[in-house]
Amino acid sequence: MTKAARGSLLSIEHLEAAEILGLLKLARRMNPAKPRALLKGKRVVLLFYEPSTRTRSSFEVAAKSMGAMTVLIQSSGSSIEKGESLLDTGYTLRAVGADAIVLRHPNAGAPQHPSQALLDAYTILRHKRAFRGLQVAIVGDIYHSRVARSACHLLSKFGARVTLCGPPDFVPEVAATLAPGIRLTRHLEEAVRGTDVIMLLRVQKERLAGRKIKLDDYIGRYQMTTARLKLARRDAIVMHPGPVIRGLELTGDVADCPQSVIVQEVANGVPVRMAILARAMGKAK
Ligand code: CP
Repeated sequence: MTKAARGSLLSIEHLEAAEILGLLKLARRMNPAKPRALLKGKRVVLLFYEPSTRTRSSFEVAAKSMGAMTVLIQSSGSSIEKGESLLDTGYTLRAVGADAIVLRHPNAGAPQHPSQALLDAYTILRHKRAFRGLQVAIVGDIYHSRVARSACHLLSKFGARVTLCGPPDFVPEVAATLAPGIRLTRHLEEAVRGTDVIMLLRVQKERLAGRKIKLDDYIGRYQMTTARLKLARRDAIVMHPGPVIRGLELTGDVADCPQSVIVQEVANGVPVRMAILARAMGKAK
């Protein structure tokens, strides 16, 4: 495997804790409302093989806030549809002068979402003093989730106590080996009781097809409701990377309650991605 270029961000476990804290500190200094020319003349290509609203738009706003130009390539309408490989697409984009590529692909690279983990960490630190000792419950389809994988690596590096919760189809026993100190439970009430952070994950209905647990049963056992939220600490925050499916992994009341920081996570994606891009292009100071 070729070594990733300096500045690349492909996964969380390969980052030192100090590098993560450095990125979060840099993000705190980024303000999309005050554009700066840190990346003037740079070209950022957004290469998306899968749908995205938050990641794509926030990387685009982040790049433009720092003076870069952006180009969006999606599988539909590009030469990817004609069978061009990811490698050849990369060579092509380099030839047209891309300085950085933001990639979402179903198979390439680590099955992670490092920018989401960083913006989630940033959001947590806006509400909690430190990660050490923090109880975090991650609920839902851990098995298929790039977000959960990156979050587990990040939180465990900083001594948070992570509990994964869901049925065996979504949270297999092996998930406990994702990172040190991870606990598993099948009971939402147990995961949530006394917790500081509740991180919910999207559940794709089609992924329940052919599984032991049926949709209604999943909703009955794992949906975050106002009653279940009361089991958490009074100052617990509710997170979700989005897109949110109201009525499935959480009720609309929980999505909109004062403890919900779901919209803040989206907003925080911009300064965090500004920091990621600045670091990637050697402009982080
Ligand atoms: N959280 C997240 O990655 O959302 P999008 O799929 O909308 O980018």
